[in-house]
Amino acid sequence: MAILEIADNVFNVGAKDWNISDFHGYSTPFGTSYNAFLVIDEKIALIDTVKKEFSDELIANISRIVDPRKIDVVISNHTEMDHSGGLPRVMHRIGEDKPLYCSKMGAKNLSRHFSGNFNYKPVGSGDTLSLGKNTLSFLETRMIHWPDSMFTYAKENKILFSSDGFGQHYAGSENFDDEIGEAIMPHAKKYYANILMLYAPLLLKLVEQVQKMDLEIDMICPDHGILWRSDPGKIVNAYVRWSRQESSTKAVVVYDTMWHSTEKMADAIASGLHEAGVNARPMNLRKWHRSDIMTEVLDAGAVVVSSPTLNNGLFPTVSDFLAYMKGLKPKNKIGAAFGSYGWSGESVKLIQSELEAMNFEMIESGLKIQYVPDDAGLDACEQFGKAIGDAVVSKHENTDPPQPAVLHANE
Ligand code: FEO
Repeated sequence: MAILEIADNVFNVGAKDWNISDFHGYSTPFGTSYNAFLVIDEKIALIDTVKKEFSDELIANISRIVDPRKIDVVISNHTEMDHSGGLPRVMHRIGEDKPLYCSKMGAKNLSRHFSGNFNYKPVGSGDTLSLGKNTLSFLETRMIHWPDSMFTYAKENKILFSSDGFGQHYAGSENFDDEIGEAIMPHAKKYYANILMLYAPLLLKLVEQVQKMDLEIDMICPDHGILWRSDPGKIVNAYVRWSRQESSTKAVVVYDTMWHSTEKMADAIASGLHEAGVNARPMNLRKWHRSDIMTEVLDAGAVVVSSPTLNNGLFPTVSDFLAYMKGLKPKNKIGAAFGSYGWSGESVKLIQSELEAMNFEMIESGLKIQYVPDDAGLDACEQFGKAIGDAVVSKHENTDPPQPAVLHANE
């Protein structure tokens, strides 16, 4: 990655990973980046490193600006290996006795990842570090999304280094929000849905906390993807909206199918949802990656899940999806189950019980059809979809309108 000066004497020296397509089970067809930041001041600071495989690139980038041995302090905002994998090599190169600032949990977690006896300097929220002209302060962001996570704020430059927060798995020629525009938002939404959705309540509290701190923020620099400089409030407000998981007139119909019977049911149910005025998309689990489906689930009012019965159970892709969705803890969803079967027909009950365990509001008993749906069966599917759609619309109409935007960070 070309070195990028993002503010006076502040550089992104990280790497773009153009070819990664699977980030621990999350599909990343647009690659990602591991952003790491170098602040040149009386003291020189490196904020975060990169995935191990990109360590040489990071060191080469730093070397084009300054001799790495001149780095005085390293800051680790997050232990996960995509940001710390390069740490041992970097510390070896710059000097293992150099102070390594991280949260208290960061010191514990890093020591469980790496054998090096680093010079840990644990910090907590409100602690500061002067580099000369730049003052850095730290904000612990526990469980957003690891126990060790924290943000680093550069006061004079008004930059928030937000680790995974506000990131996107996207690698492109663009480096800033104003260079890519609205096209970055689906990537940010997918990132939120698959990495952060389960921490929605904590994120809302964090935004509130940052508002109370009255930080002036001109730029938000996540460790993945583009940097938010033209309107950092836009991504903050999107996070608030996504975290609230307000009801919407949208539904997702998730299914797999063996001999197209469940598929026919899914299409007819989607038609019923459309009839009720709900924007519904049938999504076949063998055509859509689970992480893309979760992105649609994020702002859907209803999730309708289906499986044929296979060997007295669920189709494996459906089990996989349900386990994945359960972990991400979507809230405020209407749920329903359906499926075709041959003789035993357990799938619908199994799905229902999983959706109930996720606290979905089940408004219809499940619908199952033996073997192949005939015209009457397809009519029943449409009615099933219409009933779910009516419930979605009614819930939306009875919900308070979305709250207005809460923050324009650079105003
Ligand atoms: Fe980008 Fe949680 O690591």
